[in-house]
Amino acid sequence: MVNKDMPLWAGKTILHEKQMDSTNEEAKRAGNAGAEHGVVFWADVQTSGKGRRGRSWYSHETDNLYFTILLRPPVASDKASMLTLVMAYAVTVAVREFTGLEAQIKWPNDIVVAGKKICGILSEMKLTDTRLDYCVAGVGVNVGKQEFAEDIRDKATSLEGQCGIKIDREGLLRAILGHFERAYEEFLHYEDLSFLREEYNEWLVNQNRQVRVLEPQGEYEGVAKGITTTGELLVECGDGQVQKVYAGEVSVRGLYGYV
Ligand code: BTN
Repeated sequence: MVNKDMPLWAGKTILHEKQMDSTNEEAKRAGNAGAEHGVVFWADVQTSGKGRRGRSWYSHETDNLYFTILLRPPVASDKASMLTLVMAYAVTVAVREFTGLEAQIKWPNDIVVAGKKICGILSEMKLTDTRLDYCVAGVGVNVGKQEFAEDIRDKATSLEGQCGIKIDREGLLRAILGHFERAYEEFLHYEDLSFLREEYNEWLVNQNRQVRVLEPQGEYEGVAKGITTTGELLVECGDGQVQKVYAGEVSVRGLYGYV
């Protein structure tokens, strides 16, 4: 009998190592070598963990969760970028269920608890000509209670720090993969985010807040009004105009701190 709560392909194979340079890099090497859809790369420690916009992701604590899933979605590359939001949604559902914490989302894909970041997601894709070859979605969750470096102390927190109990990393990983698989199947069906938009917007920490949008071409301010069915953030500017903000090289900040 098939257990509907068990993922069928997401993490059917989990390659777990004490150390990797970066689980995203490991997944991309495997992707180039023909590894199958759904394989998961999980490291206790990363020596060169990567964050968004060329930043590094501190990954030396063994009680955090660092993993990447390799995906071969049968969709055009412009649609595959929505998978980052699908993963953000899946992590949020899993964290809420697994810990009881009221996890929220900072658009496009940071997960926050009590206004501080507990998870970041980095997606990358490989195109052959214009065809999508594969995509990797890498997830870093601050699980263990820890001291954060001074420059991020007011922006970062951990699950154990927030809920005060020990978290089973593998259980959390499997919960995320189960929710991701279900959401991914819905995404393939609709080829957009209509199925998760309402919940995503409910959990959006930026919702109805004043934000500053930092784009490579310049900055502007407005009030966040939720995401579209294709994952752009709607920002209402002073003149009543609504801008669509595309993820990528953009950063959205609260005016009075991280959120
Ligand atoms: C961010 O900047 O918020 C994204 C951070 C993503 C970190 C994860 S940890 C697992 C995977 N491997 C990496 O090198 N990065 C991602």
